[in-house]
Amino acid sequence: MKFSKIITATLLSVSIVSASDVMKESMKIMENGVKQVQLGFINNNEAIIRDGLVLIEKGNMMFSDEKTIKKYLPDNKEHTVNTALLASTRIGLDINIIEGNLDEKAYTKAADGYSDMLNACSSCHGIIRSW
Ligand code: HEC
Repeated sequence: MKFSKIITATLLSVSIVSASDVMKESMKIMENGVKQVQLGFINNNEAIIRDGLVLIEKGNMMFSDEKTIKKYLPDNKEHTVNTALLASTRIGLDINIIEGNLDEKAYTKAADGYSDMLNACSSCHGIIRSW
């Protein structure tokens, strides 16, 4: 009995640690991606922008399902899960918008997509950090 409880507790804490690792890893990848996209826009370098978008897409996919996001919502904010999910979806859409506009050489519109993406990051962080 005691032994199985210890095992359960261990498994539980392992899963909690790995969830937090997923979050940290996802955010780190997205942060690097965003920095790269910004560098690309500042230097008018399309390849750097596209490389950054690949990173953002990867990071966003790691942190985009309801179960994962819910773990990070403050206790009194569970009802905001849809807004948080929407922020993640918006990041995915903005990646498409930026890429599509780069294809069309519509650089100003591509940059608008980038601003919208940053707003999506802030929108989820605002909920999580009760700002
Ligand atoms: C769906 C919600 C959500 C979205 C969207 C989101 N984040 Fe986060 N972010 C979090 C959570 C949860 C944390 C951890 C809690 C905290 O830092 O307050 C976090 C923390 C971070 C951190 C600090 C990580 C650490 O190790 O403490 C960085 C950097 C970050 N996010 C970058 C980004 C960037 C860049 C984007 C947009 C491309 C983004 N995030 C979009 C939820 C989100």
